[in-house]
Amino acid sequence: MKLLMKAPAKINLSLDVLGKRQDGYHELEMIMTTIDLADRIELELLEEDTIVISSHSRYVPNDERNLAYKAAKLLKDRLGVKKGVEISIEKHIPVAAGLGGGSSDAAAVLRGLNKLWDLRLSLDELAALGLEIGSDVPFCVYGGTALAKGRGEILTPLPPPPRCWVVLAKPSIGVSTGEIYKQLELDHIVHPNTKEMAEAIKNNDYRKMCDLVGNVLESVTLKKYPEVSTIKKDMARFGADAVLMSGSGPTVFALVRHDSRMQRIYNGLKGYCKQVFAVRMLGTRHEENF
Ligand code: C5P
Repeated sequence: MKLLMKAPAKINLSLDVLGKRQDGYHELEMIMTTIDLADRIELELLEEDTIVISSHSRYVPNDERNLAYKAAKLLKDRLGVKKGVEISIEKHIPVAAGLGGGSSDAAAVLRGLNKLWDLRLSLDELAALGLEIGSDVPFCVYGGTALAKGRGEILTPLPPPPRCWVVLAKPSIGVSTGEIYKQLELDHIVHPNTKEMAEAIKNNDYRKMCDLVGNVLESVTLKKYPEVSTIKKDMARFGADAVLMSGSGPTVFALVRHDSRMQRIYNGLKGYCKQVFAVRMLGTRHEENF
C-alpha cells in the first residue's frame, strides 16, 4: 500500500518574540499560513519492522537526522508499531530557508502514517507528538492559517488571508534558526502588532494586512546577511505591496495583488536569485484523517 502526501511550506506574516523562557526557547506570538509550494512524500507500507528514507536532494540527510524519519520513529516507539515504512521525499521547498520545509515533511509523515498504520490518532494528538520534533510541526499538522503562541504550538485557527500572490526569493545561504534566536537582542525589539494582523485577516482587509507585516528576527538576519536586505529593497522597488522575511530567514517574500506586478518582481529577482517562486496562500486546514 502506498500513500502520496503533500507537505506545504509556511510563511510568517507576523513573528513577534515576547521573551526568553526558562526552558531556553522563546515565547512567541506569530501568524503563520501555508503556501502552495510543497514537498511530495510517498509512504509505502513495509511488513518488516524498519524505516527506510530517501530523497534526491543534496541538502537533506537521508538518515535518522531527517525530521521525517524522526516523525516515523516517534510514532513507532510511542505506539509500539511493528510494521515499517519506506519514505521517499521529493524536495521542492528550499532547505534551511525559514519556510518550515523539514517541519512540514515531519507533519505529513505523522498524518500519512496515522492512515497507513491505522493508528486512529486525532490531529490534536499528532500535533502534541509533533511538538517533540520541532516547534513548527504542530502548525504544519493542521495547516491553513493560525495565530500561534507559546513555542508555536498554542494555535488559534484563522480564516484564509485576503487573496494575493506571494513571490518568494531565497538567497543562496542557509540559516540556522537556533543561531538567529541566540543573537536576538531582547531589549531592542520593535514589536509588530500581531493581534491587529489577526483582525485584518478576519476582516479580509488586504491593505491592513500589508501594512502590519513584521518579523522581529529580521533585525538579526538582515545585519548578518546583507543580500537579504538587497532582495527586500528590490522587491519593494519592483512594486510589492508588502515585503517581509519568513521565519529566521533567509527567504524573503513579497505580497502583491496584480498579475503584472507579480511578473515584474518574479522576473526582476530571477535575474540574480536562483530560487524564486510565485505562489498562492492555501486557505484550508487539513481534515482529520482516521
Ligand atoms: O523547535 P525547533 O527545533 O524547530 O527550534 C529550533 C531552534 O530555534 C531552537 O533550538 C531554539 O534555539 C529556537 N527557538 C526558540 N524559541 C522557539 C522556537 C525555536 O528559541 N519558540
